[in-house]
Amino acid sequence: MSPRKIIIDTDPGQDDAVAILLALASPEEIEVLGITAVAGNVPLPLTQRNARIVCELAGRQDVAVYAGCDAPLTRKLVTAEHVHGKTGLDGPQLPEPTMPLQEQHAVEFIIDTLRSNPKGSVTLCPLGPLTNIATAFQRAPDVVENVAEIVLMGGAYFEVGNITPAAEFNIYVDPQAADIVFQSGVRIVVMPLDVTHKALVTGARVQAFRTMGTEVGRMVAEWTDFFERFDKEKYGSEGAPLHDPCVIAYLIQPGLFQGRHVNVTVETGSELTLGMTVADWWRVTDRPPNAMFMGSLDADGFFDLLTDRLARL
Ligand code: RIB
Ligand code: CA
Repeated sequence: MSPRKIIIDTDPGQDDAVAILLALASPEEIEVLGITAVAGNVPLPLTQRNARIVCELAGRQDVAVYAGCDAPLTRKLVTAEHVHGKTGLDGPQLPEPTMPLQEQHAVEFIIDTLRSNPKGSVTLCPLGPLTNIATAFQRAPDVVENVAEIVLMGGAYFEVGNITPAAEFNIYVDPQAADIVFQSGVRIVVMPLDVTHKALVTGARVQAFRTMGTEVGRMVAEWTDFFERFDKEKYGSEGAPLHDPCVIAYLIQPGLFQGRHVNVTVETGSELTLGMTVADWWRVTDRPPNAMFMGSLDADGFFDLLTDRLARL
């Protein structure tokens, strides 16, 4: 079977970095057409820099990295240095990237790629706020029907919020963009906190990264050591939740995840619950199902896959 063509839209972020590495380590299943950076965990100049650092760490200076939107559609940018550190990739010391940033704007790249590939052949994998994706859909409505599927990390329902009591960070930063994406009619698979909070880097799992004996293994161990503080303090969890790699693992081994096809509607009005993903899990409304909302995963299977693939780099 030929590899699935994807665009990774991202705001690195240590967990984004692990997701990018997992994708680049899996060429049999995944062809990364390009990586588009968006403002999120840290401002755009850092997310585009960090995306290039990760590609170089994987030895993939050939991957095209694009800079996209530097602010949400209408709201002021909210960042997450309190989780990811000032650079967004705090933890290990990292060299500045040497590979070039593409000239073309990320939104134009997304539009051109969807127009120039056969209909239904390109999957979008947003790992941050949905600003680039929504802007592409607004600027070129014709490309919406060309998207094979959107597999995104974002939202929360039973797990409630991580940036406000009601909202998960990616959705909260740009709720208007998320609303456009969830109402677009594109097939959507959602990896919410409900599942990513079950993908925890326990001591044994981080040890598996460390004992890989590779630069990638060392980096991933140091990144997860750094960004687990927030979740340990807030939730008392036993390690960092690997949010974004769940998106890529789904592309490789979808059977690791279980969920329900339900209606997911984004709160865009109320300041109290802004960015909440209201998932009709018990189907109590007549709102049509528009997303496969994941609720659980085989965590051991996920980490076995992740460790096996990262060891290849
Ligand atoms: O809420 C978790 C999400 O927000 C992850 O994608 C993390 O990288 C941040 O972008
Ligand atoms: Ca992210």
